[in-house]
Amino acid sequence: MRVYITKNYDEMSRKAANIISAQIILKPDCVLGLATGATPLGIYNQLAEWYNKGDLNFSEVITINLDEYRGLGAESEQSYISYMRKNLFDRVNLKSENVHLPDGRNLDSVEACKSYNNLLAKIGRQDLQLLGLGRNGHIGFNEPGEFFEKDVHCVELTQSTVDANKRFFEAGKEVPTHAYTMGIRSILRAKKILVVASGEDKADAVKKVFYGAVTPKVPGSILQLHNDVILVCDEGAFSKCRQ
Ligand code: GLP
Repeated sequence: MRVYITKNYDEMSRKAANIISAQIILKPDCVLGLATGATPLGIYNQLAEWYNKGDLNFSEVITINLDEYRGLGAESEQSYISYMRKNLFDRVNLKSENVHLPDGRNLDSVEACKSYNNLLAKIGRQDLQLLGLGRNGHIGFNEPGEFFEKDVHCVELTQSTVDANKRFFEAGKEVPTHAYTMGIRSILRAKKILVVASGEDKADAVKKVFYGAVTPKVPGSILQLHNDVILVCDEGAFSKCRQ
């Protein structure tokens, strides 16, 4: 694993955006696995800025997102498809047919997961998978459990994840309790994995995920078994790893 520790969030975002842009320059038709949450926002801003300057071209890039809330689609501001359009897809020259997320509007979980699994198989391995970390060490929406879920599946979100994600929902609007997410095998298929984390409230997660036991109780800990992981995190997120 390669670790880059940055002074702050902005530097973390720039470093991670540099790694993603290097991937796009080296392989213009690469498959990027993308993530949502607050952490990647600075990365997406930076990529959009470089695109506007003419330094990046997304015309052949294919994207596959990690997850989507069950029950939410483009009509909802809080869906991950809306997040991705607002923060990246509508700001760069990605082709609409080249961007992919699980279909949150399909309430038939079995069918929704099967169809996203088939799509991932058709697209092939991610050249680069971007990942944030949940406070409980989750990746995508793979919550702590007794075993690792391998493929795309429907999860019941833990209360701590629902609480953490409340900040993105207006008061009174319920946070969905279920989501469709890539499984651990879908994530580990990536040739390269880029994990980003910022702030002291991620310090426990970073320590457990990268320096603790490999266990489904900390889903991200499985990343220790992948042979090409880059962690880019700021001082705050790395603070407990120095002790
Ligand atoms: C959600 C997403 C994850 C993300 C995590 C952390 O649960 N499904 O993919 O990594 O939140 O989000 P944040 O970056 O906002 O802390």
